[in-house]
Formats: sequence, structure tokens, C-alpha cells
Amino acid sequence: MIEDLFADDDSLPRQWREELAPGAVILRGYAGNSAEQLLQNIVSLAAISPFRHLITPGGHRMSVGMTNCGALGWVSDEYGYRYSASDPLTGRCWPPIPDCFRSLAERAAEAAGYAHFSPDACLVNRYVPHARLTLHQDKNERDMTQPIVSVSLGLPAIFLFGGTEREHPCRRFPLVQGDVVVWGGESRLNYHGVLPLKDTLPPWPIREAVRYNLTFRRVMPA
Ligand code: SIN
Ligand code: FE2
Repeated sequence: MIEDLFADDDSLPRQWREELAPGAVILRGYAGNSAEQLLQNIVSLAAISPFRHLITPGGHRMSVGMTNCGALGWVSDEYGYRYSASDPLTGRCWPPIPDCFRSLAERAAEAAGYAHFSPDACLVNRYVPHARLTLHQDKNERDMTQPIVSVSLGLPAIFLFGGTEREHPCRRFPLVQGDVVVWGGESRLNYHGVLPLKDTLPPWPIREAVRYNLTFRRVMPA
């Protein structure tokens, strides 16, 4: 279903809402006006906690580069997937979630029907061409009442969104810079992933041939 979010207000940019599943929606272009500021903040965050390729418990090096900001950061190593209050690479706290990240995530959650979202973790993913994220559930959070808010920047990608079982059929959704996906409620534990990034340049100027994704979560119950 597609509907105009602000059909009655010509002063706002036209933004479109696309339902993926009950409780899951793409807010097309929602972060478009903030993209440049978000990208600048990613550069500053990476200067404190650099992108790194985590190792899965099975011993595979993830193709997506990752870093975090917030009270907690998502990490993986031979012992498993978990949240950590410190960056294992630097031994220090993760940098705080920048105000522009937080306000965008909270507004997007509200626009998607989830009032009072208050993230304590933001995973920053960096995809170069061919990098991918295999089908998975976001299930390391203790608080499952709050949604996931996921912001796309840079190169386009194909997002996979399935059901609550790995075997359920997946649908493919192209995501471009500025798109925000929010899923919660009955789709909070739905499987999702990202197909290998295509080695093409988008039709608009971008800083570098990479895709960034900001994934906001509430880990600890408020
Ligand atoms: C994720 O599931 O953590 C990231 C999804 C994306 O990159 O769009
Ligand atoms: Fe995820």
C-alpha cells in the first residue's frame, strides 16, 4: 500500500509510505534532507570508533564494515553476537548518538506509528560493492517492544524482508539514500538482509561509492 504522508501540506517534501508487512513500513525519502549532515557525522564517529570487519561465531569475516554509537554497540566474535558498552577495538566507550541521528530516528518511528522510541544503540554499517548481509533476525535486544529504525545513505541496495521463519518467502525492496525502514510490533523479529551491493554509480553525486546504513535499536528496557 502506498499513501502520501503529507498529502494535505504542500510546504513539506512529498514523502511516501510503503507497507512491507503488518508493523513494517518504508518511509521513502524521509531522511533525504538530513543525508549530508548524517554523512558528516558518520565520518566523525569513524574517527573515534573505526569501521571494522567483525568475525562471526562461525569464524567468517563479515563483508560489511561496522561501528557503533550509543550506550551500547553490537559486536560479534568467536564467542557470539552481543551488545557491549565499550568498543573492543579501542577499549573505550562508543561515541554518543549524535543529536541529528536521534531526532531523525525518533521522528521516523513516530511517523511509522511507534511513539516514544528511544534508542540506546546505533549500529553503523558500511557496504562497499559486493558486500552483503545475509538473512537474519535482530534478536540480541532485551526490549522487543520497540521497533528497529534503519536509515539508508549512499549507494542503492536491495533489502530483503521475510517472515518470522527463515524459510518464509522474502520480498525485495530497492532502498536509496534517504529511505527509512521501520519494523516493529508483529514484524519485530522478521528475517531481513541486504543483497550483494551492485558495482554501479547512482544517478546523483555522492561522496564515495559506498552505502551506509544506520540501524537504531532499543536494547535495554527503558
Ligand atoms: C541490518 O539489518 O542491520 C542492516 C540493514 C541494512 O543495511 O539496510
Ligand atoms: Fe538487522
